[in-house]
Amino acid sequence: MDGDFLKRLRQYAQERHIPVMREKTADLLKKCLLKVNPKKILEVGTSVGFSGILSLSVTDARLVSIEINEDIFLQAARNFKEAGLYDRARLILGDCYQTLMMIDASFDFIILDGPKGHMKELTELVFPMLNYGGVIFVDNIYFHDKVKAQGFIPHKHRTIVANMRKFLDYIASNDSMKVEIYNIDDGVAVIEKIKNE
Ligand SMILES: C[S@@+](CC[C@H](N)C(=O)[O-])C[C@H]1O[C@@H](n2cnc3c(N)ncnc32)[C@H](O)[C@@H]1O
Repeated sequence: MDGDFLKRLRQYAQERHIPVMREKTADLLKKCLLKVNPKKILEVGTSVGFSGILSLSVTDARLVSIEINEDIFLQAARNFKEAGLYDRARLILGDCYQTLMMIDASFDFIILDGPKGHMKELTELVFPMLNYGGVIFVDNIYFHDKVKAQGFIPHKHRTIVANMRKFLDYIASNDSMKVEIYNIDDGVAVIEKIKNE
């Protein structure tokens, strides 16, 4: 993979309004990956493969990544191949809630960057799959700043905002987790597993 591959992939996604991880968040992801040095990574929300390709390019890990949108999934497969990283990636087309139930494996690093509506439930689902000392990296915890906003929340966002606040309370009060919140881009939570339940 040449040095500009990820730059070109970000541009490709932006031109097509396909969401990929923002730059500061991607820098933080890279730092966390270098620190943990995972052998096995799970990702929820492949998109066109930006964060997955980044993850494989800075580690020698294997990646399992789940994407619900078939068209985007096919683009991701093409991009992993083009990057020369397809042999370390297992891309799964499907809904993460259903797919995760069928995965019988453990991981050192988990990226939650898929659906934002039920983050507490999603975290509860993947936490048992995380090895001791491993990390869950959660993007968009502020849901376009609405989670931080005081006062009126438009009706269409009320449930998702309430659920994200529930998630933040849950991780803050869980003594199996060491949590760091990063006020960058749309907010990131980095959760380390410090106790086996
Ligand atoms: C923010 S994007 C992921 C960006 C990606 N991690 C990156 O930086 O390259 C979120 C992705 O999650 C996918 N998604 C949404 N709901 C999902 C679900 N229930 N199961 C699996 N994927 C889902 C969307 O189709 C979208 O491609």
